[in-house]
Amino acid sequence: MNILLPEKRSNQRETLQECIGRGGYLAFRSSFQSEPSQLVAAVVASGLQGRGGAAFPAGRKWQLLRGSPFERCLVVNGGEDEPGSRKDRFLMDYFPHLVLEGALLSARAICASQVFFYINEKFECSQGSLKRALQEAEDERLIDRASLRIVIVNAPSAYVAGEDTALLEVLEGKPPIPRKKPPYPVEYGYEGRPTLIHNVETIANIPFIIREGAESYRRIGTPASPGTMLFYLDEEFSRPGIYELPFGTPLRFLVEDLGGGLSHGRSFRAILPGGPSTAFLPASALSLRMEHKAFQENGSSLGCGNLRLIPSDACMVKVTLEIAEFFARESCGKCPQCRMETNTFAVALRKILSGAANLGILEQIERLAAFSRGKGDCSLIHMAAAPVLSALKLFKTDFECHLNSGTCERCARHDRVTTAGN
Ligand SMILES: Cc1cc2nc3c(=O)[nH]c(=O)nc-3n(C[C@H](O)[C@H](O)[C@H](O)COP(=O)(O)O)c2cc1C
Repeated sequence: MNILLPEKRSNQRETLQECIGRGGYLAFRSSFQSEPSQLVAAVVASGLQGRGGAAFPAGRKWQLLRGSPFERCLVVNGGEDEPGSRKDRFLMDYFPHLVLEGALLSARAICASQVFFYINEKFECSQGSLKRALQEAEDERLIDRASLRIVIVNAPSAYVAGEDTALLEVLEGKPPIPRKKPPYPVEYGYEGRPTLIHNVETIANIPFIIREGAESYRRIGTPASPGTMLFYLDEEFSRPGIYELPFGTPLRFLVEDLGGGLSHGRSFRAILPGGPSTAFLPASALSLRMEHKAFQENGSSLGCGNLRLIPSDACMVKVTLEIAEFFARESCGKCPQCRMETNTFAVALRKILSGAANLGILEQIERLAAFSRGKGDCSLIHMAAAPVLSALKLFKTDFECHLNSGTCERCARHDRVTTAGN
């Protein structure tokens, strides 16, 4: 059963009337018959986990906020600057009323007086789509702007700008630099007020939970991860796209049955299950069920659901270097340890690729990652380490070959093909 993606008749934004036609805003309208605490209780009981990457229980954040006597804020995080991630933009572009209803319900539950839609500045379509949805909802008298301030904010197009405290800095007119925690945003957020920050997809789950009840939600997915999740398969797949699946669905079903595997029947050697900040898994991980716990037990994570397969002819040193360079570029530079770690990974991998180092460099990388653990004001420092360490563990021979000869079987084959083509 789809929670987020009702059958779409066209490639266009769902209008208010279409949304109402499929039961949209029923939850919001009926929520006025409940106390805010009952809405919070429903979300707690649903077991909803955040879809922003860390899978933190949403209800726990809501409970923390409810206890505060101060004026509260809600932020819908549509920063989505991670390479290969598309799901939030997709929801905002095509189902803005689903996101808006989720935000209105969340705001009512935590008694927020201000809502921010924090949307990547590059997503003009998402901003326009939400703006029109807001207008339509206002015209239909669904929103009373006098009691709830709602603004759409331009999020800087920088990876770290999606981190929750960097986002708070932006809302306060400052550059996107993460804050030291604690205090966490639920205690001390926008202008010192308790602030609930959720990913767009998390918010889009709320209407179903309130309309159908926590029990119905729990009937989908698994006991540890109820509900569905959006998975994005990139253009490397035979059938790329965004797929909504219940947690617990076998990964093989997504990759083979829905995605059709890599295009042109290519085989693959590694899986990057949830974006560049997740650890690589071997091809055999196709037998895993898509659930946070199962992936964590295997040393990785579902992250934001943007799944990538690494083709069999790809050199893992090159693939890992590309990711390390991304993190070196995107580290905001505030924490010396993060700056050093991300830059050192990129430099070390470049040296390995060209064979300009000895085997000891692999141990140095592992020692640096261990030293950096638990440091830094945000988790970018840990995100950068996951793909590097897992690549070293699973594909060490690629690294050893490059260190010994400056190339590997796959790079040599690629060079031969390129030379022959010239
Ligand atoms: C470097 C970095 C970038 C992040 N970018 C995003 C983002 O673009 N969107 C998002 O929802 N969460 C992002 N997060 C996670 C947020 O800090 C926060 O945990 C999330 O918005 C909470 O939402 P959730 O509870 O719905 O998962 C990022 C975290 C880090 C460390």
